[in-house]
Amino acid sequence: MNNGPERMKADVLIMGAGGGTRAAIAAASKGAKVIITSKDLFGKSGCTPVAMGGYGGMQAYPGDDWYLHFRDTVMGGGLLNNQRLVEVLAKEAREQLFELEQWGSAFDRDEKGEIYLRKFGGHSLPRSCISGDRTGREMMWALKRRCWTSGSVQIVDETYVTKLLVTDGKIAGAIGVNLATGKVIVFEAAAVILAGGGCGRNWHITFATKGKVGDGLRLAYEAGAEVVDMEFFQIHPTGWLWPPAIRGRLVTESVRSDGGRLYNSKGERFMEKYDPVKMELATRDYVSRCIYTEIKEGRGSEHGGVYLDVSHLPDEFIERRLGTVLETGLVGGVDIRKGPIEVIPEHHYQNGGVRINENGETAIEGLYAAGEQAGGVHSGNRLGSNSLPDLLVFGKRTGEAAAQYAKGTPVPKIQRDQIEEEVKNIYRPLERGGGISPYSLSKRLYEVMWEEMGIARNEIGLKRCLDVIGEVGEDFAKVSVPGRSLKYNDAWVTAMEVRTRLLVGEMMARASLMRTESRAALYREDYPSTNRKEWDKNIVVRRTSLRSICRGADRGGEIDIF
Ligand code: FUM
Repeated sequence: MNNGPERMKADVLIMGAGGGTRAAIAAASKGAKVIITSKDLFGKSGCTPVAMGGYGGMQAYPGDDWYLHFRDTVMGGGLLNNQRLVEVLAKEAREQLFELEQWGSAFDRDEKGEIYLRKFGGHSLPRSCISGDRTGREMMWALKRRCWTSGSVQIVDETYVTKLLVTDGKIAGAIGVNLATGKVIVFEAAAVILAGGGCGRNWHITFATKGKVGDGLRLAYEAGAEVVDMEFFQIHPTGWLWPPAIRGRLVTESVRSDGGRLYNSKGERFMEKYDPVKMELATRDYVSRCIYTEIKEGRGSEHGGVYLDVSHLPDEFIERRLGTVLETGLVGGVDIRKGPIEVIPEHHYQNGGVRINENGETAIEGLYAAGEQAGGVHSGNRLGSNSLPDLLVFGKRTGEAAAQYAKGTPVPKIQRDQIEEEVKNIYRPLERGGGISPYSLSKRLYEVMWEEMGIARNEIGLKRCLDVIGEVGEDFAKVSVPGRSLKYNDAWVTAMEVRTRLLVGEMMARASLMRTESRAALYREDYPSTNRKEWDKNIVVRRTSLRSICRGADRGGEIDIF
């Protein structure tokens, strides 16, 4: 069964093929040999290819500039963002967009030939460029092509990385399993970039694609890096609720930007009473909470959500601007040109992540993170369309910094015992017969996360969540999977994902319990007010402890976060 691992070498190893592609292009441009691993097929995996709404970084509207974008982002983040990271995002987003256009991505134009700008919730002005409602796909097309033609980026897809290898406090590589061959691979690399996206698959109704459980967060934490702001994850107000065949698919915020209206079962446009000015374009956390209130107070839709309607808009407009939503609905037998959609708030984005500085460096030498896997840019909450510029701006910076580091750093010697221990962890569920099914553990985690780790949280529920995570953790020691091979062994993948979900769920529950206030995307029913006096702080998770730190240094624009 275990014939000894295969070996692969690179200067920079990148996990994740969304924003990871931008990091790869940058590292390759500095002369680094790069390997990208992806849990799924390259270019088909993760949330970037299915990102719909827009690229929120074109500060071209009269009156707009980088500072206004910066200010909106920090306000949206509940004032907890690392402001240096936000400054970099706001200053560099435009340039990244132009570069992408030069590489072949096409963005919609207005009648004058200028880039068309859409307004997303929480942005003071329209500043999001779009490609209909398929913006991520358009971006990925150019990024993939650039990777393929760079000459020094090797793609190792369908590969599940399970552990980072660290020697004397420095990154030495990683170990993983190629699911297509069933072989264990040891990657030797001086620099590793975590760009594997978020952890939405800790919930069963989510925008996140298959496999997005937050493996990078576990890897970083176990390697000794810091993870920040785990209590803040974003609930998107509008996921498809009905019919079940398309449940969880995203109804992009563009629908509301372009005039979509939310109604309750009484036919009331309920946002009028919660925020008569911003209406459906209030920030996502707030719109989600308003929907939650409508449902809880008995004004929900037939299947337990609310209604979102665009049928008052011209058919031609819907077909041109909202083609994906239209097609998704038609697959499920709903024609959005003719009637409302039943929607429900769903998990959308992990605001927290691996703690980085402006070059994506983490607390571990040689370890970097970018995009949704990194924390600090969005903090309390992310404004719609700010994720795509995030992954380009920080993907580029991180790729360059990692290449630079790898150039001057020989790969540390990999310790055999680290490999042997992880190989045992990998094979253990296969070797253990008659144990507990990983699917049953997965189901228990989904249930408790949906029930207790949602829009509204409280102490009793969070403690229950921790109890269940603890019980599932004990049962995980007895998990067993059928078969003798790792090749496309879905039960084994599920077991490894449960391993990650146990830790990520615990980080989220403990951090949510610790923050005794409501702010941005976190709504604590038992602490409904914001407490700036005591809680202008970020919560940082480390291997030895969970502690809160004062974020004074970040506020003045200093970069000294380590
Ligand atoms: O609704 C959306 O299209 C989501 C966009 C985003 O999260 O940036």
